[in-house]
Amino acid sequence: MKIHDLIVLKETALHEAKDAKNDAAVEAVRVKYVGRRGLLPEIMKGLKNMDPGERPKAGQIANALKTELQILIEDRQREFSLSEAKTEDNSFDYTLPGEWRSIGSLHPISKLIEQMVDIFHSLGFIVADGPDIETPFYNFDALNTPAEHPSRDLHDTFYLEDGHLLRTHTSPVQIRYMENRPPPVRIVVPGRCFRRDTTDATHSANFHQVEGLYVDREVSMADLKGDLNYFAQQLMGPKVKIRFRPHFFPFTEPSVEVDFSCHVCAGKGCRVCKNSRWIEIAGAGMVDPEVFKAVGYDPDKVTGYAFGLGIERIAMILYGIDDIRQLYENDVRFLEQF
Ligand code: DAH
Repeated sequence: MKIHDLIVLKETALHEAKDAKNDAAVEAVRVKYVGRRGLLPEIMKGLKNMDPGERPKAGQIANALKTELQILIEDRQREFSLSEAKTEDNSFDYTLPGEWRSIGSLHPISKLIEQMVDIFHSLGFIVADGPDIETPFYNFDALNTPAEHPSRDLHDTFYLEDGHLLRTHTSPVQIRYMENRPPPVRIVVPGRCFRRDTTDATHSANFHQVEGLYVDREVSMADLKGDLNYFAQQLMGPKVKIRFRPHFFPFTEPSVEVDFSCHVCAGKGCRVCKNSRWIEIAGAGMVDPEVFKAVGYDPDKVTGYAFGLGIERIAMILYGIDDIRQLYENDVRFLEQF
């Protein structure tokens, strides 16, 4: 081997390493030149047979080639492994159709609660809250509903094993609010209620109410009627009428049931109002003095009105829903309409 041959070998080796198109090709160059049985180790071994005058120079060239080639090969290997990682990353197929994420919206019941609360807000009411799990005291006794009252029956109320119950109405929040604050009071309480009703088109074991309570000096039945009339017209439009029918609730005296004129048929008679032209939407009345006594208010100094509006009932007439169960089935095709 002559110096000249070595220089040619160097050029070829570096050229091949630079030209390698993939990892396997680089590896082939490595094996061919610097591998254990490659050309360079062989040349090193053959140096001793060379012309002693050329030997040092040849050794230098061979060594330099080995180092340079190794560095170049490592560089190229790194280059290929990086671009392989990139190819994996790029395996995403941009031509596939996109995944549609639909935008959620408020449930019609939540939406209606917001609307109702807004209207009462404009009359000066604030929102109060209470627990879904109640004691018989707040749900019944303090509301002048004694132990033998039929609504306390196991058939009507869900009792828990520890003696608590699932509140059957939002009225216990009246007690919780008043017992901690002096009058005047002006609150609305939207919330969930539970009763052991068999589910059908108009009944659900789980439903919602908005409770209202206004206590001050000289609050009258006329205030109750005026405020509920204002509420009805704000929610349903100026043509809606309300009417009071005498009723009984243990916690109000006198008590009434409140009807709205049928929004669906505008008083002509239809399936939703069962041709009666009126739809019952609330219980209400003047707060019973016994309730004031239970919370430490003086019934000779204050009077008040209270009401409990059925939210599902209002949703059904407002949106023309003829089956209450649709509100709880979470069928997106139904919910999307609101
Ligand atoms: N709590 C009653 C019910 O669920 C509704 C009701 C009636 C609430 C009269 C009141 C009221 O605040 O004064 O049937």
